[in-house]
Amino acid sequence: MVRILSCALTESPCVDALAGSDATLAPRPRVARDSPLDGARRFRFNSLMRFLPLCSLLTLASCPLLTAQPPQPPYETRAEHDPNGIGKFYMGREIAHVMGHQASGWLERPERETEERTDLLVDAMQIKPGEILADIGAGSGYFSWRMAKVTGPGGKVFAVDIQQEMLDLLQRNMARREVKNVVSALGTTSDPKLPPASVDTMLMVDVYHEFDQPFEMLSAMVKALKKGGRIVLVEFRAEDPAVNIKRVHKMSEAQAKTEFELFPELRWEKTISVLPQQHILIFRKS
Ligand SMILES: C[S@@+](CC[C@H](N)C(=O)[O-])C[C@H]1O[C@@H](n2cnc3c(N)ncnc32)[C@H](O)[C@@H]1O
Repeated sequence: MVRILSCALTESPCVDALAGSDATLAPRPRVARDSPLDGARRFRFNSLMRFLPLCSLLTLASCPLLTAQPPQPPYETRAEHDPNGIGKFYMGREIAHVMGHQASGWLERPERETEERTDLLVDAMQIKPGEILADIGAGSGYFSWRMAKVTGPGGKVFAVDIQQEMLDLLQRNMARREVKNVVSALGTTSDPKLPPASVDTMLMVDVYHEFDQPFEMLSAMVKALKKGGRIVLVEFRAEDPAVNIKRVHKMSEAQAKTEFELFPELRWEKTISVLPQQHILIFRKS
């Protein structure tokens, strides 16, 4: 069961509200001119040799090493842990409590734009008109409608969350702003329930560190991403002691890369450092 907190993420008291393979092809073996094989047998031999690299490629494609494997064991539970975490650890990091819908006011606070420079984040994404986007862990839809405006009527934003209350609030916010190209979707803690290969860009702002099942979620997200599509991960910088956010609600760049690099389809492309408190990591699906 996912425990959801009704507090904001700053270091202030809060209430627990609810319990491509790099395989190189060997040079094609050739039968020497003075081969003892006769013409027909030489032809059969050469055909077989021509086929071998293709066979090895097919074998590699079905090889488990080319699909993401979870660490073993995938998750650990520890009795001693941060009170803002759920006591479940993934690759050495404690998973944070999910922020409850009761704290949605913190997401919509007027000073957020200046504190987090959310305008710079949307600019940095370089969204093209007509893009299909997904706001994973959309909350009240703070970024959903901003992205919807940029992609325009030819594009769409799937706004995914696991709390129906957040999605109800998000729908009210979209109606108030007369935004018509945001589609809300109720996901689960292991699956955003998006159609396969349907999304160009997925955004996660202050969400990934709350995933109860990060390996399963990311696997499902990779499936829903189009080839060449990207995941934009935005997290408060754990490396920076000046960022006044609870420890388990921050993530270091190195930790994020370690976790995403489990997925052979994903390649870290760049880190954009324009925001006052968060880093923006871009991962591309090959
Ligand atoms: C801190 S809020 C951030 C909301 C929004 N991204 C923003 O920046 O305004 C985190 C949101 O992620 C959602 N969430 C947590 N785990 C999730 C999961 N596995 N799938 C989808 N949403 C999730 C929570 O319900 C919550 O609404």
